[in-house]
Amino acid sequence: MPQFSRAGIPAPRTVWQWLLSLPIDCAPLRSVGLARGIEVDLADKRVVVTGGAGFLGRHVVAQLQTAGCRHVIVPRSREVDLRREAAVHSLLARERPQVVIHLAAVVGGIGANRAMPGTLFHDNLLMGAHVVEASRQAGVEKLVAVGTVCSYPKYTPVPFREDDLWSGYPEETNAPYGLAKKMLLVQLDAYRCQYGFNGVNLLLVNLYGPGDTDDPTRSHVIPALIRKCAEAERRGDRVVDVWGTGAATREFLYVEDGARAIRLATERLDVSEPVNVGSGTEISIAELARTIADRVGFTGEIRFDPREPDGQPRRRLDVQRAKALFGFEAMVGFADGLDRTVAWYLQHRRD
Ligand SMILES: NC(=O)c1ccc[n+]([C@@H]2O[C@H](COP(=O)([O-])OP(=O)(O)OC[C@H]3O[C@@H](n4cnc5c(N)ncnc54)[C@H](OP(=O)(O)O)[C@@H]3O)[C@@H](O)[C@H]2O)c1
Repeated sequence: MPQFSRAGIPAPRTVWQWLLSLPIDCAPLRSVGLARGIEVDLADKRVVVTGGAGFLGRHVVAQLQTAGCRHVIVPRSREVDLRREAAVHSLLARERPQVVIHLAAVVGGIGANRAMPGTLFHDNLLMGAHVVEASRQAGVEKLVAVGTVCSYPKYTPVPFREDDLWSGYPEETNAPYGLAKKMLLVQLDAYRCQYGFNGVNLLLVNLYGPGDTDDPTRSHVIPALIRKCAEAERRGDRVVDVWGTGAATREFLYVEDGARAIRLATERLDVSEPVNVGSGTEISIAELARTIADRVGFTGEIRFDPREPDGQPRRRLDVQRAKALFGFEAMVGFADGLDRTVAWYLQHRRD
């Protein structure tokens, strides 16, 4: 059970938390090297992973198990709807976690962003706000939130540096999703200042790997292209149509690398400033489409449709901060990761 001060807020557990809970402007404190905290040993922690059964979540749970964590709790949306405040409080009261990793979200590619911007904004904002507030009230020692590259302004200088995050409005199609998730940053920063609450936030680039959905209503670009090219090859089509001009670029991170970054940040990161998590590489959609077509054996034409949106013109993250603060670097190269992903989809399709 958390200890409570006379003011009714959880009493600070460490000198750093006490320092950070002082009612003063927190910016100077945050910039004096409090970044790398004492490493958390996850073995005996009770860890709730919201969204732990999702594409990324399954790999995060595997990472926690590799780190020896014996108490991992994965609430499912059919039992605990995180958009409902009371449900979130009951979950934390029942499970009494010391650590919360908040991955649950409504996500999708450009099609989903265009079809349901209201849902993406509303659900992600509410889930984040409730999970952070309930965690604070329940005395959770550490919360790790996962944000997104979609929070960056549309025209950010490449590579995207965390300090440029607030310099403009995101690309229109993914702004509702990107901004809802960006509010987690504001909330965690405010909670660190006011309550000494230890929340951290990672900005992940587009993930890919085995197990991502290829449902056309909500899939991301890599599974969508694999499916299109594989189906065209099977039917003997000569053309595959792809949205946009093909000129936009994207950065991709293999999902296991993303999960490892989250585990490392859970153990080692102690600031509420955003930290980019990516591979630091960049590929155009045109090159990506051709590469995927080659891998699935589709030899026909890739035809781009410039009447459809490109989304953000370019994406590549500066990944230095993650390396400096918690020692993360991507390990799986794109060619290798894509081979594993295509093989999984082709196998999956046969099953
Ligand atoms: N995939 C990417 O390329 C990418 C890139 C950057 C950041 N991210 C972030 O990474 C996180 C995980 O993404 P993902 O790709 O793994 O998504 P995903 O496969 O769709 O998983 C999301 C999970 O969220 C849970 N969820 C959704 N609505 C919920 C609700 N109302 N109550 C409780 N749980 C709910 C679902 O749980 P159930 O399975 O129980 O329904 C689902 O398993 C998200 O925060 C996303 O913003 C992803």
